[in-house]
Amino acid sequence: MRTKLVVGNWKMSPTSREGAALVEAFIKQVDYLWDVDIVVCPPYVAIPRVRELVKDTQVKLGAQDVFWEDSGAFTGKVSARMLSEFCCDYCIVGHSEARGRFGGYEPPIGTREYFSETDETVNRKIKALLYYSISPILCVGETKPERSVGETEKVVERQVRGALAGVDPSELYTFVVAYEPVWAIGTGDTCDPGEAERVCAFIRGVVAGVADQDLAESVRILYGGSVKPENARELFGQANIDGGLVGGASLDADGFARIVMSA
Ligand code: 13P
Repeated sequence: MRTKLVVGNWKMSPTSREGAALVEAFIKQVDYLWDVDIVVCPPYVAIPRVRELVKDTQVKLGAQDVFWEDSGAFTGKVSARMLSEFCCDYCIVGHSEARGRFGGYEPPIGTREYFSETDETVNRKIKALLYYSISPILCVGETKPERSVGETEKVVERQVRGALAGVDPSELYTFVVAYEPVWAIGTGDTCDPGEAERVCAFIRGVVAGVADQDLAESVRILYGGSVKPENARELFGQANIDGGLVGGASLDADGFARIVMSA
């Protein structure tokens, strides 16, 4: 039996002070919920302050990205070694925004080329995180044009296989996959729950092929893309959807608490 997991991806929204206020308000509402795993992923600069606030609660801490080298002349980068010092239990990798594949949101002209995640960089990041016992949350998902030509399965399979190349399956028991169709991110255009379930079941099959059936049964597969309090229950009720990766709606303490309660 897989424990449900709900992850809030705050993206580049709250400052450290705003993030502290948000998590304080949120913790008050989920204080009694011990049968669901909850993670918040603040921007790096908010991690130290949020960590102090979640320390003795059931809310776990995650980061939004990582660089694969341990240390060195990599200006602006943050390593898994550094995240482990702040007790980050989880880290998102391969988010479509980091891959330069935006959903409903068009990045300002001239900024798109700064986002250049590939399957190979995702793979390096996953290996670095596993070395420090940080659970990777691997994001996969197709764009609208890819879906319209029937390439959803091909894209997510390539992303999962690329991310896990050369990784020892025995290291993957805390690994999480998030199916985030790019066209559903930040658009309000949620994937139909039955269709999200179909793709998540397909992803579980790919994990079974890369590793084995036991691992595939234990790995948690989340859905992300316009999850809201109104649609969370139906999405999380699907057999192969083990919770959600929530963007915009995780920035509202009440709404995010309602989403967690749906799980
Ligand atoms: P929204 O929930 O705002 O659509 O964002 C989803 C997402 O990208 C989470 O990582």
